[in-house]
Amino acid sequence: MISQLNSLKEKLSSLKPPSNEKELDETRLKYLGKKGEITLLSQEMRNLSKEDKPVAGKLLGEIRNSLETVLKNSKENFKREKIEKEIESEFFDSSLPGLQPKFGTRHPITTTMDEVVDIFSGIGFQVEEGPEAETDYYNFEALNFPAEHPARDMQDTFHLRGLPLLLRTHTSPVQVRAMQKYKPPLSVIAPGKVFRCDADVTHSPMFHQLEGFTIDKAITFGDLKGTLNLFIHKLYGPATKTRFRPSFFPFTEPSAEMDVSCVICKGKGCRVCKQTGWLEILGCGMIHPNVLKASDINPDEWGGFAFGMGIERIAMLKYGIGDIRHFFENDLRFLGQF
Ligand code: DAH
Repeated sequence: MISQLNSLKEKLSSLKPPSNEKELDETRLKYLGKKGEITLLSQEMRNLSKEDKPVAGKLLGEIRNSLETVLKNSKENFKREKIEKEIESEFFDSSLPGLQPKFGTRHPITTTMDEVVDIFSGIGFQVEEGPEAETDYYNFEALNFPAEHPARDMQDTFHLRGLPLLLRTHTSPVQVRAMQKYKPPLSVIAPGKVFRCDADVTHSPMFHQLEGFTIDKAITFGDLKGTLNLFIHKLYGPATKTRFRPSFFPFTEPSAEMDVSCVICKGKGCRVCKQTGWLEILGCGMIHPNVLKASDINPDEWGGFAFGMGIERIAMLKYGIGDIRHFFENDLRFLGQF
């Protein structure tokens, strides 16, 4: 047995390493398979004498290890050669353009809001912000909303359960907060999110408004018209016409709604303006004396105008978007267009 092992060792030391996968498998089978030489010899170990056993065991271990090393190395060589061949045969054109990384785009509401803020900042309005969770006092009371006014209805307003707060239904409360914080003369815009329990093609439970107001001495409705006309001409172009219709808001007297000539059909009449040639764009008016009084501003000394607009509406008209829900679904195919 020992001499058998020695001659096997001799034979294996001059073994030519396998030159392909097939030879590798054959060699493994020949020596290490079920009926392989090494396997058979190790089965005979149990018949050896006590003295021969350790010598044979050591020898057998060496033989097995060196053969396994040869087989392992060959296998790795074959693998490497295969990859090298693949790389060589593949044509790599390093002059091809790279993959364009995907860049995010600004949300159309952000772009529109920034544009509106820029126009008013440019003519001296300062930007103020107020809380989204607001008190009944600032959202309604101080803005001269009578207690039974329908805007206070549970169906429009989100009330916060267990708290004396609601989600502001408009940005007008920032008027009052700013009047209490600063002394007139004062020109403020207040951009921000507002909330109403309402949802369809043109209404979203969360949307954006921009509020603005000016308080000074001898302010007239002409100041209001001049300011808003300038704004509309910057926003939709100098050819855009405007008109003011009488309206009602508790916090302004008189109140008006401003229309612009349809930005889609230029006033000829289309589906968007319902064939009227006009689009309603914002609410405005002269600040009600009660609102000034609530902020300790003497209405006999000071006067003011105010306006408020929905940013989604302005963006829908600017980009020709028919459904407000597109803004909030975050479909990249929609957002990527801006
Ligand atoms: N707060 C009003 C709304 O959400 C919009 C508005 C109308 C604001 C007239 C004003 C204004 O400042 O004068 O519908």
